Amino acid sequence: VPEIAFLNSAYMPIEDAKISINDRGFVYGDGVYEVMVAYGGHPFRMHQHLQRLKRSAAEIRLALTSSVEEIERVMMEGIERAGFDDTMVYLQFTRGVAPRKHSFPANTKPTFVATFREKPITSEQTRRDGVNLVTIEDLRWGACFVKSIALLPNVLAYQQAQDSEAFEAILHAADGVVHECSVSNIFFVQDGRIVTPAKTNKNLHGITRRAVLDFANDLDIPTSEEAVQLDAILAADEVFLSGTTFEVLGAVKIDDRNIANGTVGPVTQRVAAHFRLTIEQGRYE
Ligand SMILES: Cc1ncc(COP(=O)(O)O)c(C=O)c1O
Repeated sequence: VPEIAFLNSAYMPIEDAKISINDRGFVYGDGVYEVMVAYGGHPFRMHQHLQRLKRSAAEIRLALTSSVEEIERVMMEGIERAGFDDTMVYLQFTRGVAPRKHSFPANTKPTFVATFREKPITSEQTRRDGVNLVTIEDLRWGACFVKSIALLPNVLAYQQAQDSEAFEAILHAADGVVHECSVSNIFFVQDGRIVTPAKTNKNLHGITRRAVLDFANDLDIPTSEEAVQLDAILAADEVFLSGTTFEVLGAVKIDDRNIANGTVGPVTQRVAAHFRLTIEQGRYE
């Protein structure tokens, strides 16, 4: 099955989608994006993702040229054309093509790209065994709630994790306050309660993070969004991550030290199972 791109107004094979070297996304990382998963053709929490896209664009003063309804139509047709069981949809808007100058170009239309690829599979073994994490100081800016395409600190942190044979990097401030991970949000379980860093300007307000808090509520598991210290995570009963592509994933080691007894815990398993059930029951919003 071919991977498909939508560029400005047409669908094409991904290899045929080309943009200018003057695109401000290429030159400055001047753009915003979204990633969502469509399960059997049904995008999960699409309206929340599209609202976040609108907010990201507004925060960087990028005027979207497509309405939410138009973006939705582009998505649904792309998903249909690609024909995967589960599709990973990527949407990106940049400030368009203009000669290199920092100030916003006048009368330039944003570039709109969407891609439709098969959702990457997280192996059952990874889900069962859990993943390793490393801790890295967060060097990012003060608007991390914007889903900006400028991801260099995230790329460097994720690569450092991979180089240490870890799945993800916990990003924390110099004083030990935990923000999130390089491509996911983080949770821990203490005495039966699920805790996650509160939404701030130092983390992305994940759609899967919101879903996990909703699922915990369905399951009558108490939750808390608060300031989280690295020490609390290191001493937790369980730690898990949330993100659109892998959903919920248990973590078992941080910087080569076991979390509790080094296995994926029961609360993590309940939340992950509830996620599967929600999809199987067709509750996509
Ligand atoms: C930095 C960062 N944090 C968290 C997440 C998780 O957000 P979501 O659940 O909306 O995919 C992402 C995106 O995948 C991300 O890039």
